[in-house]
Amino acid sequence: MYKYEHGGDVYSLPLTTGGKAFIDFSANINPLGIPAGVKKALRSALKDCVNYPDPFCRELRGDLAAYLKVEEDNIFFGNGAADVLFRLALALKPRKALLLAPTFADYEKALRSVDCKINYYELQERQAFKIQRGIVRSITPNTDMVVICNPNNPTGQLTKRRLLLEILNKCVEVNAKLLVDECFMDFVDEDKAFSLRDLLQDYPNLIILKAFTKTFAIPGVRLGYCLNADEELMQRLHLCGQDWSVSVLAQAAGKAALLEKEYLKISFALIQEERKYLIKQLELLGAQVYGSEANYIFFRLDEPKELPLLLREQGYLIRSCANYHNLNESYYRIAVKTRVLNRGLIKAIKGIRKDALLTDDN
Ligand SMILES: Cc1ncc(COP(=O)(O)O)c(C=O)c1O
Repeated sequence: MYKYEHGGDVYSLPLTTGGKAFIDFSANINPLGIPAGVKKALRSALKDCVNYPDPFCRELRGDLAAYLKVEEDNIFFGNGAADVLFRLALALKPRKALLLAPTFADYEKALRSVDCKINYYELQERQAFKIQRGIVRSITPNTDMVVICNPNNPTGQLTKRRLLLEILNKCVEVNAKLLVDECFMDFVDEDKAFSLRDLLQDYPNLIILKAFTKTFAIPGVRLGYCLNADEELMQRLHLCGQDWSVSVLAQAAGKAALLEKEYLKISFALIQEERKYLIKQLELLGAQVYGSEANYIFFRLDEPKELPLLLREQGYLIRSCANYHNLNESYYRIAVKTRVLNRGLIKAIKGIRKDALLTDDN
């Protein structure tokens, strides 16, 4: 039986035993919710749903190209970043790929769907799950594709530009594609955040994956894209799926989202502040926090093992990282939310930890 392996599953358990909605810390979505301008655009685009959507997303493409300062032809939109990922796998059909472990599970799912063999670069806890320069040696003439999630999900660990450049150059040397997933880059502090998109023209083997999903809190709308300067690949992506994967509503939401400068500023400040708060509180509770440079916190807490279950009883969903390669049930990921919600979660963990310690003493 197929098993859904992501956070954000508010459908399997729609309500708490008390009949209330769960507070979902398991999906990393902007806690400010959908920006007002995007909601308005969605409402007003409803009437246009009598037509098929523009298969080339022309208006959105023009706006995004200007926003990101990239060529219009270098953008391919899809039904969320995950859809683009599957199209890339189908268009490229790599035979052998190198993935981080742990990392976002859909890279493997997409690659396995085209019978790609996976090699893992295992991130080490003693190195705080940071990619080391040794990764370059793992890229061999047999490697067709390397995927780096930056910042990585679930660790929230960033890879510096210098190392990414080494990886990129090694990929050129062995004729491999480098896919850099920057879906969470918008939440990283400005002085540490960087995108590789200025390198697109010089490196046609570089593909950057991005989404509107997390930044603008629209996972249900589905809008993502990739950036790449290989004209042939960009054309092939059209052949690897339906023409209407980006709905009228998604295109309208995307255009409106690009105008939300103030929303982004406020979100960014909130995430910075609340991330600090959560890290401090979790450390006070005895958790070991790693990375966590984005809008989610990755931590290890050895006891109690049934933390997600105990939190669920109190109305909170968190992401157990037990099903990631190279992790186990001691690791968790939680989204950064507003202070009231963050405080509630910390209070609940505190209570659970206290009970566990009392039980141990008895
Ligand atoms: C790193 C990363 N990339 C891509 C995606 C997929 O994003 P979307 O919802 O836009 O398909 C996710 C979803 O969790 C993710 O964590």
